[in-house]
Amino acid sequence: MSKTVLSCIQPTGHMHYGNYFGAVKNWVDLQEQYKCYYGVVDYHAMTMPYDVKKLRNNVWELIYNLLAVGVKPENLFIQSLVPEHAELGWIFNCFCSVGHLSRMTQFKDKGKDSEEKSKDSFVSAGLFDYPVLQAADILIYKADYVPVGKDQDQHLELSRAIAQRFNHVVGKEYFTMPDTLHSETPKIFSTADPSKKMSKSAGEKHFINVFADEARIRKQIKSAVTDQGGESDEMSAGVLNLFTLLKTAGRIDDHTSLMNDYNAGTLRYSNLKDATAEGLVAMSAAFTEKRKEITEDKRAIKYQIKQSSAEIRKIAQETLKEVKELVGLMNV
Ligand code: TRP
Repeated sequence: MSKTVLSCIQPTGHMHYGNYFGAVKNWVDLQEQYKCYYGVVDYHAMTMPYDVKKLRNNVWELIYNLLAVGVKPENLFIQSLVPEHAELGWIFNCFCSVGHLSRMTQFKDKGKDSEEKSKDSFVSAGLFDYPVLQAADILIYKADYVPVGKDQDQHLELSRAIAQRFNHVVGKEYFTMPDTLHSETPKIFSTADPSKKMSKSAGEKHFINVFADEARIRKQIKSAVTDQGGESDEMSAGVLNLFTLLKTAGRIDDHTSLMNDYNAGTLRYSNLKDATAEGLVAMSAAFTEKRKEITEDKRAIKYQIKQSSAEIRKIAQETLKEVKELVGLMNV
């Protein structure tokens, strides 16, 4: 039987080339090989202070984005349409120690972030409990592989600890242990400051939206930082980042020939920038076209994703039923 892959993404902000090359493209590729479930996790999005008027719309926007870049609709679900995640999350709370949760570095970091932002210093119990819900996301589909970044290793380790404790308490090897799937994904940095990861939180010039228009992409690449002076034999972070973008945009021939120029000491940065911009413009144009097609009939898409969520929910319900049986709760 083919292995099961599960991953989830929070409905926040834009999709930029850092997200795309770092995670979403991988999701798209894995669909060829595995049974895949991909969730837009709106319950998770509530753990930090958020705007209740925007959440639902953010979820749909992310769905359109994911579909536009090639995620298959039948693999997509919205977490709150599968409320069994939350119920299993509750059950898992009782199989997870406070000590283990309090060692999660992401909670410590995010909690600090939120405290520092004087406007809203509210740190919710949901934020603390976030990794338990994540364990439910994963285990409810009995996922074998979870494609995530290294920052999620600790959460995966917690998921396995919960699964182990559960199996131990119920006296049955019920859950299989999920593994992270660390694919080789290129690291994309901000073109305005190549010492930083491309990210939305750093501000407008630090990320390139996957659906950006041609003029914007050209402008951002044109003003990309290359060498910041200083004598060094190593390729600078900015130049390396442009080469990475060029390659990941599929411009292999350009990459090879410009790299030869670089090695010969004859590379003109303007050529590298032109080629990189060209590659990204072509990709973004294709994505934008697809997105336009999709959003022409939003009602149809919403209907389709509600249907796929309902289909995927059947699997979650099956697991939850077995779990309730095993832990001594009632089933209808
Ligand atoms: N915690 C993940 C992140 O911040 C998102 C997430 C929620 C997730 N549930 C998941 C990832 C289950 C993988 C599997 O990126």
